[in-house]
Amino acid sequence: MFYALCSMKIIYMNNAKIKKIAIEAAQEAGKMLLKEFENFDRTKSELKSQLEIVTKADLKSEKMIIKKVKNSFPDHKILAEESGKQKGSADYLWIIDPIDGTTNFSMHNPLWSISIGVAYQDEIILGVVYAPFMDEMFIAESGEGAKKNSPRQGGASKKIQVSNITEGKVLNTFCHGSSKAALKKAIKYYNYQKLHGFDCRQLGSAAIELSYVASGRIESIVIPGVNAWDVAAGVLLVREAGGRVTDSDGSEWTLRSKDIVASNGKVHDQLLKVLKRK
Ligand code: IPD
Ligand code: CA
Repeated sequence: MFYALCSMKIIYMNNAKIKKIAIEAAQEAGKMLLKEFENFDRTKSELKSQLEIVTKADLKSEKMIIKKVKNSFPDHKILAEESGKQKGSADYLWIIDPIDGTTNFSMHNPLWSISIGVAYQDEIILGVVYAPFMDEMFIAESGEGAKKNSPRQGGASKKIQVSNITEGKVLNTFCHGSSKAALKKAIKYYNYQKLHGFDCRQLGSAAIELSYVASGRIESIVIPGVNAWDVAAGVLLVREAGGRVTDSDGSEWTLRSKDIVASNGKVHDQLLKVLKRK
């Protein structure tokens, strides 16, 4: 009993430190990225693949965040979009997207974010998404709910919740992985929703779309061919805000899932039905 209580206390203290470091890392990277964003020259970005670009700002942001994490938690594992995996002996995994929405960033569209998720033994326990231009930070801790604040403006955090909308003005969003199969699935989904639903659009940052589902600003996001770094933080935001997150077959979403369907819960079955259509 005594040892169980002691180890619970250690985990709690560790998680509080993890949260502090994740928030600080997102804020520090955000500050640097805003300066880069100001005068960003689109011709300076490089193509990673036919559908993906990378900029010096992505690399700089990722380096800053990883350095901060490694300084505080040298034994934690890391999965980051641009540099991949780093091994560690601890059961904690940091899942980092240094800029989610790089294409938006490059075209001077302010809808881009920094996404930091932390998993313990494969379960996401912390999600931080920061959209620096709007100064909106979304934070979820497992079992503690989801909140939003504005670090530059200060003030208290506000609890966020998914919407109650079930029909009519349902706002769906989507994006897709870079494979042809994922792209085709997304286009088929978009085609159906555009012709049969109220609206379906691509905001260009999966982390922001998930944060918006969690805040009740939109009802869903669907991503065939998902990358863990784009969504790890946002998954917890949606769950903690009362929504539902699954794979496209309806099974509970895990870090190994291929697709993602995240919603306010109320429209979820309708989305799965659309995705199952031949
Ligand atoms: C991208 C964004 C976008 C989605 C792409 C992702 P990135 O992430 O999340 O919304 O459509 O599939 O790759 O490359 O800007 O980090
Ligand atoms: Ca990225």
